[in-house]
Amino acid sequence: MRVFVADHPLITHKLTVLRNAKTPQPTFRLLIEELMTLLAYEATREVRVEPHEIETPVATTTGVRLSEPLPLIVPILRAGLGMLDGMVKLVPTAEVGFLGMARDEETLQPTTYAERLPDRLEGRQCFVLDPMLATGGSLAAAIEFLFARGADDVTAICVLGTPEGVKAIREAVGDRNVTLVLGALDHGLDEHAFIVPGLGDAGDRLYGTVGE
Ligand code: PRP
Repeated sequence: MRVFVADHPLITHKLTVLRNAKTPQPTFRLLIEELMTLLAYEATREVRVEPHEIETPVATTTGVRLSEPLPLIVPILRAGLGMLDGMVKLVPTAEVGFLGMARDEETLQPTTYAERLPDRLEGRQCFVLDPMLATGGSLAAAIEFLFARGADDVTAICVLGTPEGVKAIREAVGDRNVTLVLGALDHGLDEHAFIVPGLGDAGDRLYGTVGE
């Protein structure tokens, strides 16, 4: 598994505002989207393209276009939805599938409560979006889901990750073709499996608190 941790002052600046508990919800939403666009630039470095001949006003030249099947973007509900527009801005022709997952606050086990994905993912490059990689349970389950459908190339993009989460994903995916792109690698988890220093609960800060 390849791991890329962003190292750019603009990303760190935006992350600092995002982490601040005083940042209001509209700003938080905007920043998640902007951070996603910045991370998408790195995450799509290996996106598959093919030669494409065009006529400029002056000459014929060969550039590239995205290969088919087009990439599939998979936000993990809820919090991953906040990253979707930022990704689609960079890859507007990509298709989008959805996975709904919630982590049980006691057991920390993820459950899948919604799924809207193509039946077959052979040959598709998949980009999974979730702001938080905490224990890694949710992302590992999402990646497993995509491989079970035939995907052979998965890039996961998280705004924050932990060493525990990275280790869990590394163990879960083995030698399969997975890339992890993080906005920052935080210190670790607290006793409630929240990322420290983190930013709190991304889903709640984006969309408000839901009852259990
Ligand atoms: C959060 C987060 C990840 C998951 C991370 O979602 O968005 O999906 O927890 O934890 P893990 O790495 O330990 O599995 P949550 O279950 O709170 O759902 P939400 O997005 O609907 O708020």
